[in-house]
Amino acid sequence: MSGELSPIDKAKFVAAKRAADFVEDGMRVGLGTGSTAAWLVRSLGEMVREEGLKIRGVPTSTRTAQLAREVGIEVISLDEARWLDLTIDGADEFDADLNLIKGGGGALLQEKIVATASDRMIVIADIGKQVETLGAFPLPVEVIPFGWRTTQALIEEMLISMDVLGRSTTLRMNGDRPYVTDEGNHILDLHLKRIGNGRQLALVLNQMPGVVENGLFIDICDMVVVGYGDGRVEIR
Ligand code: 5RP
Repeated sequence: MSGELSPIDKAKFVAAKRAADFVEDGMRVGLGTGSTAAWLVRSLGEMVREEGLKIRGVPTSTRTAQLAREVGIEVISLDEARWLDLTIDGADEFDADLNLIKGGGGALLQEKIVATASDRMIVIADIGKQVETLGAFPLPVEVIPFGWRTTQALIEEMLISMDVLGRSTTLRMNGDRPYVTDEGNHILDLHLKRIGNGRQLALVLNQMPGVVENGLFIDICDMVVVGYGDGRVEIR
């Protein structure tokens, strides 16, 4: 499966494969979104088809739901599952405290709901996602379409009072149209460069009218499985 992969894809693949070992028979598993999570879903599908693994998966996006069904994983909704044993997902950045930026793939809202409803969250990532301080990757913030420009202006005003270097924000686009999430919302990407106090920023953002959720995952992740281009895997 991993024969012809580029080093970065190999790193994602080996991290996903190792994390799949934490999935046990009978588990309700949150299935993340993105290219790394897709490797996980494919690995789990293989285990279902070839080893008879019995799991029920709760996908975090329509993309992941489609892939999970294609590879043979039984898909249920979060409302059916109520609570999950484990969620495995990718990330855009992780730091030494296992705090994350997520949402580069636009699925942060379902991802945060699903991860928070899990006994345990494992992140799978290539080593390039490890950072000393979060914030070089633009922080995705999901906002409702109504009045998004006003929400954007409020966020920019708020950033002036916070310990961040960058203050510019951009509306995520899909071609010449605003990107639309699975919930019908838009995403503002906050170009902050360095996030001094992620916990405070996450709280402040979520108090703003128009903001649905932000991509800071603070104290949610329990373990990061890190993959390297040469096939090594480390656990943090
Ligand atoms: C999607 C996410 C992804 O987990 C994140 O963007 C990482 O993606 P990839 O595994 O493709 O690098 O948060 O909303």
